[in-house]
Order: sequence, then C-alpha cells, then structure tokens
Amino acid sequence: MGGGTMNGGDVHANTNTEASLKRSEVVIGRCGVPEVTLNSGHKMPMLATGTASFPFPPIEDLKKAILDAMEVGYRHFDSAALYQSEEGLGVAVAAALEKGLIKSRDELFITTKLWCNNTQPDRVLPAIQESLRKLKLDYVDLYLIHFPVRLKEDILDMTCKKDEIFPLDIKSVWEAMEEVHKLGLAKSIGVSNFTCKKLTDLLAHAKIPPAVNQVEMHPVWQQKKLRDFCKEKGIHVSAYSPLGAKEWGFDVVLGNELLNEIAQAKGKSVAQIALRWGHEQGVTLIPKSFNKGRLKQNFEIFDWQLTEEELQKIASIPQKRIATIPEFVFPDGPFKTFEEFWDGEM
Ligand code: A2P
Repeated sequence: MGGGTMNGGDVHANTNTEASLKRSEVVIGRCGVPEVTLNSGHKMPMLATGTASFPFPPIEDLKKAILDAMEVGYRHFDSAALYQSEEGLGVAVAAALEKGLIKSRDELFITTKLWCNNTQPDRVLPAIQESLRKLKLDYVDLYLIHFPVRLKEDILDMTCKKDEIFPLDIKSVWEAMEEVHKLGLAKSIGVSNFTCKKLTDLLAHAKIPPAVNQVEMHPVWQQKKLRDFCKEKGIHVSAYSPLGAKEWGFDVVLGNELLNEIAQAKGKSVAQIALRWGHEQGVTLIPKSFNKGRLKQNFEIFDWQLTEEELQKIASIPQKRIATIPEFVFPDGPFKTFEEFWDGEM
C-alpha cells in the first residue's frame, strides 16, 4: 500500500463499500485508494489527509506532513481558508513536483473551503482567487461552503459576537459558487456542515447540485439520516473528524470500549476500526495526522473487512454529535440553540 504506481482503469473495489454505493461508482484508483465518481463526473479518492491543526503549525511542519502523506500514498488533501493551511499545502505540492513524488498536479485531488466572512455573492470569486494564489494552483478539485452561515467581513476564525453572525442567503451564494465552477476554478463544488433541511433549501435553487457534503461522522455520530438523504439526492458524504474530533481534544471514538474490544480481537488499532467502518458506509474519510507512522496506519484499511457482527455492534453505539459548534450559537443571536443551528438533527 505504499506510494507508487497508480492503478488506472475501472477495477471494481471488492469491499463492503459496494453495499453502500452503487457498484459502478467505486473503482480502485490512485495508489490503491478506492475512488468515487462524484455527480460532477470527477473522481475523488475516498481517503484524504486533513490539514486542520490548531494552533496553526509552521509552514515547514505542514509541508513535511503533506510530503510524508504523499510518500505513504495519499493523493487527496483537504484544506480551508479557516485552517490557514493553503500556503503550506501549496509549498508541499510544488516540492512534490520538484522531487518527482508526483509527475503532475492532476494526480492530486485538492479541496479547500470558502470561509464564512466571504459567503456573500460578490465575495466568492475573490475568495477562491486568494485561495488559489496561496495554493499556487490554477484550480481546486473541490470548493466547499464551510458552514451555512455568514460572518462579518473581518471575522477570519470562529470567534464571533452575536451581532457578527447572520443567516446565509444560500441562493445568491450558490449562484456565485456555480460561477466559480463555470470559470474552471473548481472542478466540483459542494458544502460542509449542511443538514437535510439546508440541503433541501439549496437543491430548490441549485442549477448545479452540490457534489459533496462534508460533515462530522464517526462511529459515535453516524449520520444515518443525513447519509440516506444524500444518497437519495446523489450527494457524496465526506467525513471530517472520522476519529471522533480527537484534534479538538475528544476521545469518544478512540476511547470507546466496544471499538477497543473489536480492535483488540482483530489485531487492528481503534483508529483503523473507526476508519474501516466509515469506508464500509461508503463515505470519504478525512483523518488528520502529521505523524508518518499514523498516516501509514490510517492508510492500511483497504485489504480487510469488518464482519456483519462487528458492524451490528458498531451500529448499536449510542449517538452524540461532538462538533456542536458553540461558537455560532447565542441565546439572542440568529441561531439561539444547538437544535436551531442543526435544524433538530442532533
Ligand atoms: P497526529 O497528527 O499527532 O497523528 P480527527 O481527524 O478525527 O480530528 O483526528 C485527528 C487527531 O487524531 C490528531 O490529533 C491526530 O494526531 C490523531 N490521530 C491521527 N491518526 C491517529 C491514529 N491512527 N491513532 C491515534 N491518533 C491518531
């Protein structure tokens, strides 16, 4: 499973994932990672390296982690204006080309996200142009609206006051996203942190449907309802925090007793069990690791399966959304409760 040759062609993945996605939608792709064909017609590797790390790491550390990931075989990288990781990713891509780790930028799948201070129609194009400048790229493979909210123009992170956050006018912002796609700056466009209700609103206006909805998903927050909805609408689900938001200091997944039991019995790590479970649900996984050993471990999930009994046990885990995003909820703001922010999908 190391970095190296690419398997082209339409070789069908022989995994339980086929049960979750139509057989024709998943093929073995770059470096042995299954790829899904998005509703835009573009293929996306179903395992990515996340680049969100707080406090922000020095560019050199980010570059090293991304080059390590490429050596392991990762070809899909997930960044965002919020994470301030675009510049480091751009430096790493340029270095990978120079070192010959990849022959062309087209071998990579690069995602970035529109921050909420730019979720106004006239700010979307300048925002992606700035992201592309930092990434040193002509296009991204996937551009996502990061959250379904608008923030005051000078808010660059999640710390806002109640009068600095507003509901999103999805119709006009999505039109601007569609324009970005038509200009060739993003091969696919999508959203992140959208509920079934917000997707329904979006689909009522969209000429181009979102290709992806990137949301929190792991064995402790399985997102069954949202996944069923997205499947019906042809929207692919990507899982952020697939290890249970460990990056934010939670250990609900890696510390889960049942997952630990399964891991021990199978001779796998708990992280591998969580990731393999996500893969078998047919979603794209975005674990973040800046450690080469763990990057490798997280990559080694495609040549074994969970049993029906193990899947049933995992299905019985009590459910809890971890990333509730308290930063955006104010008793006298536009989103008064978590239930309101997440449209009751808690
Ligand atoms: P590190 O970068 O030191 O590997 P999530 O993507 O769910 O937010 O989880 C990311 C966090 O989990 C990071 O803190 C990362 O730390 C850690 N991590 C990544 N892979 C593993 C693994 N295989 N085992 C344990 N921790 C991991």
